[in-house]
Amino acid sequence: MILIVGGAGYIGSHTNKLLRERGYRTAVFDNLVHGHREFVKGGGFIQGDLSDREQVRLCFAGNPIEAVMHFGAFAYVGESVADPAKYYRNNVANTLTLLETMQEFGVKHLVFSSSCAVYGHAEAIPLTEEHPLRPLSPYGRSKLMIEEILADYDRAYGMKSMSLRYFNAAGADAGGEIGERHLPETHLIPLAIQAALDRRRSLVIHGTDYPTPDGTCIRDYIHVTDLAEAHCKALEYLKRTGQSGFCNLGTGKGASVKEIATLVREISGKDFPSAEAEPRPGDPPVLVADYRKAQELLGWRPERDMGEIILTAWAWHSKERDREENI
Ligand SMILES: NC(=O)c1ccc[n+]([C@@H]2O[C@H](COP(=O)([O-])OP(=O)(O)OC[C@H]3O[C@@H](n4cnc5c(N)ncnc54)[C@H](O)[C@@H]3O)[C@@H](O)[C@H]2O)c1
Repeated sequence: MILIVGGAGYIGSHTNKLLRERGYRTAVFDNLVHGHREFVKGGGFIQGDLSDREQVRLCFAGNPIEAVMHFGAFAYVGESVADPAKYYRNNVANTLTLLETMQEFGVKHLVFSSSCAVYGHAEAIPLTEEHPLRPLSPYGRSKLMIEEILADYDRAYGMKSMSLRYFNAAGADAGGEIGERHLPETHLIPLAIQAALDRRRSLVIHGTDYPTPDGTCIRDYIHVTDLAEAHCKALEYLKRTGQSGFCNLGTGKGASVKEIATLVREISGKDFPSAEAEPRPGDPPVLVADYRKAQELLGWRPERDMGEIILTAWAWHSKERDREENI
């Protein structure tokens, strides 16, 4: 059985669904602080919090867990700057509880949700894994700390892990069953779609004077189902090779904020205004992944393009609007 911590959240729920389709037995462990019970499409569900060691131990004692995927974290960069204690407590200290319990129960394989936030300002694009690690926020530092702890756990206890440094997760399940529901929402594509659905007055663009062709930030958007595929391959890699590792997950292609807004307008057929605002502190102008290492190690490559990202996200958020209007 694969234990999916944070599996009621956005990326974890898509991964749970894919693992189930591939024939894996799964159980989701989530405190539902940011997750949604109805996103857990099959497998077991345990409502629990990593901060509660006894709950975590009971989960391991009661289930034949062979490997863990760990998505459970707080992930708002701005909030982490304002309240670092909250981030170090949940993303670092609570992860230690998980690792200690894995160690206690002899579970040796972990796939960890890391982030491109470990890099900081890009010195060269695309970013390879050799790029210096200089995170700009407590959130990014919390991810880097866990990567370092995992390297120590391998050396000392032989625990094998794969840290996946996601770039910007986006899109939704092609079947329309699950998608992105972050409260509050800070991600660009859902915000643009909400503007297209008249659920926001405008799309706020933070910074229009960056050193990029149209002045807005460029990011590498990776379809959430491609991320889920990479998790399956990471699990197979750990079993096959017994080696730890880390790698980027992105597409190698960047899109600017203005390009995304245009694409959302085209695909939705709806126009909406944009409003310009100050750049957000610590937002690097360009982040684009070099994903060759993931290709070499895991045999993974992104299969879904920007069009599919926006189409699946549009379908999901249109359904969400209908759901909320019926509440
Ligand atoms: N969304 C992105 O673009 C992105 C990019 C890079 C990295 N990541 C990382 O990927 C992971 C998943 O991101 P997401 O967008 O799906 O976020 P999410 O908030 O939708 O999912 C995280 C889940 O973890 C749960 N959780 C948090 N703390 C917990 C705890 N102490 N005990 C039990 N459950 C807990 C939440 O309830 C939530 O369901 C996170 O670790 C995030 O840092 C996300």
